[in-house]
Amino acid sequence: MIICSCNVLSDQDVRSAVEAERTRSISQVYGCLGCGPKCGRCALTIRRLMDEALGGACAASCNGCARSSQS
Ligand code: FES
Repeated sequence: MIICSCNVLSDQDVRSAVEAERTRSISQVYGCLGCGPKCGRCALTIRRLMDEALGGACAASCNGCARSSQS
């Protein structure tokens, strides 16, 4: 599904960038995908996708830390 109409980015593009590059900020996601923010309407969706991807990675690699119990 396209989540950024300005840059034509899909949710899968964002997940791949987060998982491959371990991006920690929305601007890093844009940079990794070779674009930049324009209108900014997609920022919250990108943040949510990052949290989901990083939360899953944390839960898989961490046993019992504060962050893994928040997921
Ligand atoms: S929808 Fe992503 S920058 Fe406009």
